[in-house]
Amino acid sequence: MKNIAIDTPAGPSHIWVGERLSRLPHYLPSENAIMVTDHRVAELYAPVLPCLPCIRIGRGETIKNLETIERIYRELIALEANRSTFLVGIGGGIVCDVTGFAAATYMRGVPCGYVATTLLAQVDASVGGKTGVNVAGYKNMAGVFRQPRFVICDPMVLKTLPASEISNGMAEIVKHAAIQDARMFAFLEDRAQDARRLNPAVIERLVTDSVVIKARIVNQDEKESGLRRKLNFGHTFGHAIEKISGLPHGAAVSIGMAAAAFIAREKGRLSQKESARLIRLLKRLDLPTTIALEPDALFDAVIKDKKREHDRLNFVLLDGIGKAVVESIALAELRRFTRRMVAAGGSLADET
Ligand SMILES: NC(=O)c1ccc[n+]([C@@H]2O[C@H](COP(=O)([O-])OP(=O)(O)OC[C@H]3O[C@@H](n4cnc5c(N)ncnc54)[C@H](O)[C@@H]3O)[C@@H](O)[C@H]2O)c1
Repeated sequence: MKNIAIDTPAGPSHIWVGERLSRLPHYLPSENAIMVTDHRVAELYAPVLPCLPCIRIGRGETIKNLETIERIYRELIALEANRSTFLVGIGGGIVCDVTGFAAATYMRGVPCGYVATTLLAQVDASVGGKTGVNVAGYKNMAGVFRQPRFVICDPMVLKTLPASEISNGMAEIVKHAAIQDARMFAFLEDRAQDARRLNPAVIERLVTDSVVIKARIVNQDEKESGLRRKLNFGHTFGHAIEKISGLPHGAAVSIGMAAAAFIAREKGRLSQKESARLIRLLKRLDLPTTIALEPDALFDAVIKDKKREHDRLNFVLLDGIGKAVVESIALAELRRFTRRMVAAGGSLADET
């Protein structure tokens, strides 16, 4: 088991990779804890969940809203929760985001912890202290930065995840390796098959490496002013693709990483060989790298989704495997790249 600590102004936040869900009671105060989970996780893991008052929420992005938060407040009031109550969220990214937001705001803030039960939550959503809910259909419009006291990442609970949920997490794992860690990337290339099969030792190493990378970036840039932008690698095109095609997040981010590699190559930053390594790895992990989309529609979706600075956009590129760089690209140039990219492959470039 590995422990990764994140220093925060409110004290350390500990991420335990390889710990078991069944050992959660060891991390909780002896009294006055309440758990928040969703119906699916409650059903699947009933025998190992601790014996605590439980607030169950629904599933899917549409329940990640202020109505759910108000319902949690009401249940907390009914349970006579006070400022020393400890909230523990057990579930995927939605449960973590919702629990974190409720904990940060109920009675001006109560402590919280998470058991992250999806691969995406283990490598991404539970790390970094961002919480939030959607408002009027816009993602994460209301939220606060709030670090949990602990996060437990149990590799065994991943066995019950459907394939698309594994892909969502796997895309973020590739992203972490690509932006920051050439050795992790090489390990992934070596053990892609084992990663896909959720070999516990391989997953534990990949989750640990991912958490270390994200934690290191967050430690230096908790409020997302500069360095943290690198975590958006693949997400500029990824979010746009997710929105216009309806593909799952991981698949869209995977295509977004292939698109960013294309642009990095066009700009002379990434070699053909390294770009091909990225595409090959994504494919070996069963992640898509191409999609047939109309280039101008894709470009419009990109600039609608991302914060622009006048007629430029900050874009995360690679200077090599394991080395991300943020470059301000003129929108006119980005439009040209998008058209070239689509023309090169009849869709987004696929050149392995
Ligand atoms: N706060 C952040 O920094 C951050 C970062 C990335 C993503 N997010 C957010 O995370 C959310 C997505 O998270 P997610 O991908 O974990 O989705 P999710 O929370 O919706 O979970 C996916 C599905 O898997 C089920 N599930 C959870 N654990 C399971 C298990 N062990 N076995 C079987 N089924 C299980 C859930 O019931 C749910 O239906 C989005 O709302 C996104 O905005 C937040």
